[in-house]
Amino acid sequence: MKGIVFREFIAMVETQFSLEMVDAIITESTLQTDGAYTSVGTYPYEEMLELVSHLSTRTAIPVPDLLRAFGRHLFQRFSVIHASYIVNQSSALALLRMLDGHIHVEVRKLYSDAELPSFNCEEQADGSMVLIYRSKRALADFAQGLLEGCIAYFNEPMQIARQDLPDHTGSHTRFTLTKIAHVNLA
Ligand code: HEM
Repeated sequence: MKGIVFREFIAMVETQFSLEMVDAIITESTLQTDGAYTSVGTYPYEEMLELVSHLSTRTAIPVPDLLRAFGRHLFQRFSVIHASYIVNQSSALALLRMLDGHIHVEVRKLYSDAELPSFNCEEQADGSMVLIYRSKRALADFAQGLLEGCIAYFNEPMQIARQDLPDHTGSHTRFTLTKIAHVNLA
């Protein structure tokens, strides 16, 4: 996992909790680097799970909730750091159509050793979108948070239904995104 992701996680923990919390979870984890991540460096993704697990123990917030919160936060940060991939998209669904075949492809050009998931995207006749997430890293909660962050960024009310599918080597999850119709009560 790229150092930029770790750095954003540590910054979020400092802002949402405290610097003391950052120090505590770093000290409790077995890390290659003592938490000194560089943006372009690559580190075992298990270190992220370890940091999140210690944060969960200390805050009593379940790990999946923390991963989702981090995904939402990271999308907002990507909209600043990697604005060019986001600002020109007209909608959340337009961006998600470009995710697998363009955005993450460009990410791999930027960071040649990036470990990226696959997102198969199928548009349904009713206007909803099915995204099939597959990754060796079991980060479906993080993926859901990124999707929630994307929807919040474009400010489009949308429901996300999630179905975890059997997979023994990581994550295999089906997300269905459906626009929530505006109800006119007038
Ligand atoms: C809603 C949109 C997006 C979703 C759902 C998504 C999903 C993910 C997930 C789940 C991962 C973790 C790796 C894994 O699961 O195997 C990841 C990694 C990453 N994504 Fe995306 N992503 C989105 C948009 C973006 C955008 C806009 C950028 C910026 C250009 C981006 C850049 C990256 C980077 C740099 C990584 C880290 C790769 C690594 O650590 O090696 N993603 N993405």
